Amino acid sequence: MKLVFSGIQPTGNLHIGNYLGAVRNWVALQEKFKCIFCIVDMHAITVWQDPSMLVENTREVAAALIASGIDPKTQILFNQSRNPDHANLSWILNCVARLGWLNRMTQFKEKAGKNRENASVGLYTYPNLMAADILVYQATHVPVGEDQKQHLELARDIAQKFNSDYGADIFPLPEPLITGAATRVMSLRDGASKMSKSDPSDLSRINLSDGADAVAQKIRKAKTDPNPLPDSIEALSGRPEADNLISIYAAFAGISREDSISINSGKQFSNFKRDLTDLAVSVLEPINNEMRKLLSEPEYIDGILANGGERAVDVSRPVMGKVFQAVGFRS
Ligand code: TYM
Repeated sequence: MKLVFSGIQPTGNLHIGNYLGAVRNWVALQEKFKCIFCIVDMHAITVWQDPSMLVENTREVAAALIASGIDPKTQILFNQSRNPDHANLSWILNCVARLGWLNRMTQFKEKAGKNRENASVGLYTYPNLMAADILVYQATHVPVGEDQKQHLELARDIAQKFNSDYGADIFPLPEPLITGAATRVMSLRDGASKMSKSDPSDLSRINLSDGADAVAQKIRKAKTDPNPLPDSIEALSGRPEADNLISIYAAFAGISREDSISINSGKQFSNFKRDLTDLAVSVLEPINNEMRKLLSEPEYIDGILANGGERAVDVSRPVMGKVFQAVGFRS
């Protein structure tokens, strides 16, 4: 049976990279598959989080996901810390994964920066917890943006080694689903770096909580080059900012990058940016309005997450039973 799992960190505002690279695909997948969507608060604390902000951010991400179209009734939506099986399996996987495998993780190197000795141990073992998130539900498909590809390859290696070490065919090898026209949305200020929650410049990203005026202002100020838009994808090479905006347009319109370039070919950036703003606002404004409504009822959101957490445990507990038996826990 196919089961989709994906996660998102509650470390601040969601931006259109999260939306176009991941969440929009989740919304489409839930029409066809059973899905579990997890707000990964345990991953979030691998770097310092103010506790009261973490509570707020968890609710805000839940509101953003529901407002984007995730249905918490037919699917499971919860925050990770509600199901202790993630931590439980992650310890066992810490004992399966090899140091050499984790040493290759580029995201750890980027996030730990120069002062690696001072990074939390949790940041280092982060990919093992991520593998546990997926495997504890025996998930088969994982929709993510491109930046998570290496972590998913590791999750597959861990699943395979567990199955072979313990002679137990418990974990399917999860398939990454990296789809759409914007699998790696770049910063609006610098076409060479990824759009990210942690970029100090708020102008670098469009947040799902931004109103129409903020969206318009950020697109107007987005870095570009002096030439009009070309007539082919190939001609975008060496023009990373133009390439990024064409991909964002394609993803919002639900069309291919090729179609996006042929619709916009020959336009000056001033005109293109106006069209892109109209398109982005037409998608983001209803989400933004719905988010505001949901956030005015925090108890409603907390109720959804609590219910999702219970249903998540119902799925993971029998898998943990099999894992315990395979490992030789409990007599
Ligand atoms: P996170 O919270 O950084 O991002 C959530 C999702 O958004 C995608 N994404 C992007 N896609 C395109 N362009 C961007 N600029 C961009 N920025 C982020 C991410 O690829 C991701 O799909 N480690 C994960 C969370 C996680 C998880 C999991 C994911 C924890 N356990 C298990 C899948 C399965 C993360 O930090 O995502």
